[in-house]
Formats: sequence, structure tokens, C-alpha cells
Amino acid sequence: MELFERAYIGKCELSNRIIRSATFEGMCDEKGFPTETYRSFYEQLSKNKIGGIITGFSYISDEGKAMQPGQAGIYSPEFIPYYKRVTTGVHANGGKIFMQLAHTGRQTREQETGKEVVGVSTKRSPYFKSKPRTLKPKEINEIIEKFGDSALYAQMSGFDGIQLHAAHGYLIHQFIFPKINNRTDQFGIDKKKGIGTKFLDLIIANIREKCGEDYPILIKISGGDDHYPTFGIKQLINLIRFLDEKAIDAIEISYGTMDYALNIFRGDMPIDLILAKNKVFRSENRLEKHFIKLIYFPLFKRRLKPFSSMYNLAYASLATKYTTKPIISVGGFRTGKEMEHAVKIDGINFIGLCRPFICEPDFVVKIETDSNYKSKCLNCNYCAIMCDTQSVTQCYKTKSNGNTTESNSNNSGK
Ligand SMILES: Cc1cc2nc3c(=O)[nH]c(=O)nc-3n(C[C@H](O)[C@H](O)[C@H](O)COP(=O)(O)O)c2cc1C
Repeated sequence: MELFERAYIGKCELSNRIIRSATFEGMCDEKGFPTETYRSFYEQLSKNKIGGIITGFSYISDEGKAMQPGQAGIYSPEFIPYYKRVTTGVHANGGKIFMQLAHTGRQTREQETGKEVVGVSTKRSPYFKSKPRTLKPKEINEIIEKFGDSALYAQMSGFDGIQLHAAHGYLIHQFIFPKINNRTDQFGIDKKKGIGTKFLDLIIANIREKCGEDYPILIKISGGDDHYPTFGIKQLINLIRFLDEKAIDAIEISYGTMDYALNIFRGDMPIDLILAKNKVFRSENRLEKHFIKLIYFPLFKRRLKPFSSMYNLAYASLATKYTTKPIISVGGFRTGKEMEHAVKIDGINFIGLCRPFICEPDFVVKIETDSNYKSKCLNCNYCAIMCDTQSVTQCYKTKSNGNTTESNSNNSGK
């Protein structure tokens, strides 16, 4: 396989094997409707020869909304004309766009949203800390329907496919994970496989029923998480084997949960910015600030994994041995050479990139000309920390997001 050749996800043809991984935008209004900033952002991004673009995580129901302001939603037919404008702009540039669908589950805070937190069990996230109420089977079935409905709205809006967010500790991942899922009903952990797949299974079936055989369904999973040793290689292989038998079209392999979000992104931990902007650690109390900065964070930092190039590639390579479905590897790709190697030698079908596109939307054009070209991304993670604020996602070093609008405040979606 070559990096720069046409390739398929289901029946959807992409112009090359490079994918923009889901990246939270912070460009929607308080009800989740895409603003003009969102529309023009994707229109601009699609001018840059990216094989396929996956949107940021979009909530499928009100209680499934995450804490970040400006998150995209898709939970009623009312959204269709607004997203149609988005997909029309992307398609006019020859681009392909997939919508990522998510339910946050326990990864949110009641004190920020004023809403009850629900999850697979009452187990709290060590980071978000709110105690979730366990979802009843009837509510789980309703959420499954809502995933199917949202996928249908995405299809009617012209998206080329959807991606189920089953990674990073969000609700689908909470059902998969043995450490979080302690249910004893049909949605619990399969003792033989060591993972919980019933919820995901029914979501995939629901989407297929509503969107038809040919509509591309992608899925993003976490290949591992050192903080949850009950999900190891055996469980990963069982998850890949499960997905191999399902009607899905590509599997993207990331890492971890939002409990240690910097293990998903890797790189720097900008402590002062976290203290100023992060909703969990933000503090006006000087003593508390000192404690967090001088004692808590240095200890926390020890639990983080360092950035290295292509840091999730081993999981993706392993996955190729257990499935014939296309595999997308994401995490730490920074040069064309690395991507070419992963495709040609490791047999990875697609390469996912997030931060390189935040600072250089034209990154593909640059590596197509020179495969040694290295992304300007410094892995400073300012972009990630700022997701908690009203600002749109952008690079704080190069001040670029492919768009000039920095705040969303006067920009209504509806
Ligand atoms: C600012 C920011 C926003 C992100 N938003 C999402 C998201 O909405 N959904 C998702 O699955 N991953 C999200 N991610 C994770 C990325 O898709 C990707 O898995 C991770 O950043 C590693 O890739 P990279 O090294 O190319 O940045 C986000 C990452 C960053 C830095």
C-alpha cells in the first residue's frame, strides 16, 4: 500500500490514506447547532488534500453532552439543514467528511452542567469525580435508538459516514471496560472475552437498520490503558475479533481515557494554563493553587507517558493480525516518512492526525511535496487544555485553526 493512493472505507473512496482524526471544535452554539464558524472551518480544511475528515465528538442526546462549551450536537432532524451546509462545502472541494458520534456517560461534572451524570455503573471517574447513576436497561435501549437516530440525521445531512466514539472513556468505552462495567445484566462483561460488547453490538445493528448496508460506520477504540490493567492485550484482541465480525468499515486505534487525558495526547503538561483554565483544577485559593502546582501535579505527572513518534502504532499493527477491516492508527505521526513506513511496512491502512492539522491545515500538501517535512506541532497541548474554555480550537503557538475567528460568543448556529 502507498500513502498517496486512493483508498476505500466501505464504499466511500478517499483520495489518499490520511485522515484528520476527530478534533473537538468548540464552534457550535449552546444547543449544539453548528455556527458559521464551524461551517467555514470545515470548508477551509477540506481544501487541503486530506483524504477524509472526521468531525469532533458530537453528542447524540442532551444528557450525553460533554462539559466543553461549543460542542456539536446531532439529536433531532432540526440539525439536518445546518449540517447540510457543512457537508455541501466540503464536497464542493472534493473532500470527504465523517461525523463522530458520542455520549459522554460519566465523563462530566454535575457542578458544571447542573445535570445528573449517568453511566454504566456507579463507579466514578477519578478525574471528573461525579458519582454516576447507573443506567437502567430501558434507558440503555433508548440511548441505542438515539445513536441510530443520530447516525440517520448525519446521513441525511450528507456526511459520508459516521464514527462511533468507543474510545477515551466515553459511554461506549465504559461498557467495554471491565474495571468500570460491573453490571450483572445482559450489558455486563462477557466472562470469556473479558469485555462488554452488547451495548456496542446493538448500536451497530441499530445504525445498520436505519442507515442501510452501505453507509460507512467507523469506530474509534482505545488499544490500551496502563491505568486499567484489566483491559490488556487479550481483551484488545477479543475486541478486534468482535469488530471483525460486525458490519463496520474501519477501526481507529487510540489510547486511554479522559481520566489521564494527557496519555491520549502525550507531550507537555502546561501546568499554569491548567491551573488557570481547567474546570477541575481551576482555583482562586492561593494555598490550594500552590499545593496543586508543587505537590499534586508533579506526582500526577509521573503517571503520564512521554510523547514518542507513532505512539499507538504497536496496537494498530497487532490489530491487523486479527481483522481484515481497515485499520487507522492515530497518535504521534509527525512526518510523511513515518506515515509511509506505517502504511508500506506495517500494513496500516490509514493514518490519523489531529494536532498537526490544528497548527498546519495544509500539512498534507507539505508532506506530499517533501516526505521529510516535520509538523510544526510542539505537542504543547495548549489546544487540548483550551477545549474547556469558550475559545474555538486553535494552535496557540502558530495562532492557526485554518480560520480567523477565535471566539464563538456572537456566532449563533440557529
Ligand atoms: C484539541 C484536541 C481535541 C480532540 N478532540 C477529540 C474528539 O473530539 N474526539 C476524539 O476521538 N479524539 C479527540 N482528540 C484526540 C485526537 O483525535 C487524537 O486521538 C490524539 O490527539 C492523538 O493524535 P495526534 O498525536 O495526531 O494529535 C482531540 C485531541 C486534541 C488535541
